Amino acid sequence: MNIKSLIVEKASQAMLAAGLPEDINPSVTQSTKPQFGDYQINGVLSVAKKLKANPRELAQQVINNLEIDDIAERVELAGPGFINIHLKNAFLESNIIAVNKNKKLGVLAHQPVQKVVVDYSAPNLAKEMHVGHLRSTIIGDAMARVLEFRGDNVIRHNHMGDWGTQFGMLIAHLEQMIEQGTDLEKVALADLEGFYRDAKKRFDNEEGFADLARSYVVKLQAGDEYCKSLWKMFIDTSIKHSEEVYDRLNVTLTREHIRAESSYNDLLPKIMQRLNESNLVVEDQGAQVVFIDEFANSEGAPSPFIVQKSGGGFLYSTTDLAACEYRSNELMADRILIFTDSRQSLHFKQVENTARKAKFLREETSYEPSLFGAMLGQDGKPFKTRTGGTVKLTSLLDEAVSRASQYLEQREPNLSADNLNEIARKVGIGAVKFADLSKHRSNDYVFDWDSMLSFEGKTAPYLQYAYARIRSIFRKAQVNSEDLSDSVIISNEQEKALAIKLLQFEEALDLMSSEVTPHVLCNYLYELTSLYMTFYESCPILKEGVSEQIRYSRLSLCRLVSNTIKTGLDLLGIEVMESM
Ligand code: ARG
Repeated sequence: MNIKSLIVEKASQAMLAAGLPEDINPSVTQSTKPQFGDYQINGVLSVAKKLKANPRELAQQVINNLEIDDIAERVELAGPGFINIHLKNAFLESNIIAVNKNKKLGVLAHQPVQKVVVDYSAPNLAKEMHVGHLRSTIIGDAMARVLEFRGDNVIRHNHMGDWGTQFGMLIAHLEQMIEQGTDLEKVALADLEGFYRDAKKRFDNEEGFADLARSYVVKLQAGDEYCKSLWKMFIDTSIKHSEEVYDRLNVTLTREHIRAESSYNDLLPKIMQRLNESNLVVEDQGAQVVFIDEFANSEGAPSPFIVQKSGGGFLYSTTDLAACEYRSNELMADRILIFTDSRQSLHFKQVENTARKAKFLREETSYEPSLFGAMLGQDGKPFKTRTGGTVKLTSLLDEAVSRASQYLEQREPNLSADNLNEIARKVGIGAVKFADLSKHRSNDYVFDWDSMLSFEGKTAPYLQYAYARIRSIFRKAQVNSEDLSDSVIISNEQEKALAIKLLQFEEALDLMSSEVTPHVLCNYLYELTSLYMTFYESCPILKEGVSEQIRYSRLSLCRLVSNTIKTGLDLLGIEVMESM
């Protein structure tokens, strides 16, 4: 169900019938104020400009040719040449019924279906996951879920960092621990951060250790079995850590989605060969460098993109070129979405520029590094512990749940302990995720416990609470909500506004999919819930005196609201509860 595309289609036909050129964009938007109708066709203005015609006259001609009686009760010419559309109740009613009966809430599959690689989370396995990985993990997961919901063929790639020079140091340290007979799972690797710190200390201070570490990197990268087995042991434990985090975060990533940096190893010589054959790479101080004119600095010096170090070692950049080749030419992806923070902006520009020239990326593949801003503390500086350290993701989630639990204890003192724990988990984790997802991805944002856990405003608890309240209405009415879809009557303004919003779910998902912006869905769910609250206050449901028919109709609207909130939150990876 997509009212906007319906109107676009009708507007295009009317423009053609009015004798306007074929290639014009009818541009339709949802109206922001009731006096502008429910939708507005505002594409006539730019056409008029191009044709040097009077925009109001042109808009009138379009109106004369607009065949829209089936969906609109009123169409009016407004302002300099806008066309306001007021939707018809009967149209809304029949669609609410149809959408209510549909498992996917009337949301259609993308046309055509696309193959989309979604590269997200991608922690560096040398260390434990910290808050810096939160955004990539949850924004990427929301996108993967939504694209899948729309029928796209989604391929998740967890591009884990498992192949840097640090691994030499880590396995050298690991070797000694094994020799000393330490129970690794229990002691050493239970605290990856501590393990890393100890290894680093030895690297900096212990005689001979740094040399050993360096020799292990070389051996590892050359495929030495012994080093590889140590490395595997380390990687495996580190992956287990991240799996625990994914599980707590309700993120869909599993082991089978891991496509770590090391997996591109065998492709790298071929990548270098192709760069050479295409004359893209030159030697500079022993290193292999692609100089990119398009990103020259203010003095005109081209931007250097190093693809091989002087000692022959490959880099993050080389791996990303290989990833382009694999995803675009082998997997034949239509889109590649990559979620990293905005500090990697230049890196990905360089990757795309080089990959296009060397044909590692097909023209048909859209390469979309989807960068995000930083998570800041109350002081406006990057989010840190009180002592200035990086915050482990597990600690952040622990705190979220315990804070949610405190809030809930005050608010709902009658909850049983089991219920409290379960709800606190959903509210705490949901709050952290929603607070992040609801901000525009590219902006920095200030992490604030009190506002994200509030039951008012644009928060997860607000939506979760609304959902639970609606479910309790069905229990009180003693109806099975799934039976409520046979008739709907729109009898007032609040019901109409709510019905229109309900039918705009697909439009929100469309915008989120094309612009890679989960905040669009968050805003939508918040607006829907707010309209529901208004409806609930002004439209009695179970009160005596409400006719059977109106009660049924309002309950049907409630059903669709609750299903839309539930589905929408699920697409964001946020859980709901039936009561609270
Ligand atoms: N591991 C990288 C980091 O922690 C992110 C990888 C993102 N994906 C990619 N294809 N480069 O910064």
